[in-house]
Amino acid sequence: MSQDELKLSVARAAIDYVPDGKIIGVGTGSTANFFIDELAKIRDRIPATVASSKATAERLESHGIRVLDLNEVDSIPVYIDGADEISDSGAMIKGGGGALTREKIIASAADRFICIADESKQVAMLGRFPLPVEVIPMAHRLIARKLDALGGSARLRMKNDAPFVTDNGNYILDVSGLQIADPEALEAEINHYPGVVTVGLFARRGADVCLLGSPAGVKTLTFGRGKP
Ligand code: 5RP
Repeated sequence: MSQDELKLSVARAAIDYVPDGKIIGVGTGSTANFFIDELAKIRDRIPATVASSKATAERLESHGIRVLDLNEVDSIPVYIDGADEISDSGAMIKGGGGALTREKIIASAADRFICIADESKQVAMLGRFPLPVEVIPMAHRLIARKLDALGGSARLRMKNDAPFVTDNGNYILDVSGLQIADPEALEAEINHYPGVVTVGLFARRGADVCLLGSPAGVKTLTFGRGKP
């Protein structure tokens, strides 16, 4: 099975977690895109969505699915999104697509986080995938030095020979070389650096359920963490 077929299999499985008549949060990335395309088939069952990026909003709207601003919504029963890495306890690295801040906001608003990923994303210890950190542009070198002092190696994300700019107008540092034994502690530490907008560690609010695509079928991992 190709990686795309695995992503499609979990996107289809995630439809079972969409409650009828409720607003759902939708993530960003290639796996989330498969999910959006599946969601389009049942769009009459949901009133609207909240999107974690401009790209996701555009894709949802291209399918005729209504997108609301988070400020227009009182509750989000379910948030469905991909991950770059997921640990045995449901902690994740996210932000490979650069949408980590809006993803974290919607995840924090949601009652349940359903992670959809192919099995290559499951790891014993987070950190092989470079950890994305969204930063205020004026602070990127300052923050990079602090992240290097933690034992990592921070690089400014580039696109077309210029810094990659997020939907929020900020930059991203990708930190390689970290072995993240205590994701909650590292999330709290990096969040405290002035100039950091969001660290792409989703440990305090990790996944409640992960649907992992494998050639043998979709595995369901339940973490039952609940909303912090
Ligand atoms: C975007 C994300 C994505 O969920 C993550 O990068 C996984 O993407 P993909 O499904 O394309 O592998 O966090 O900011």
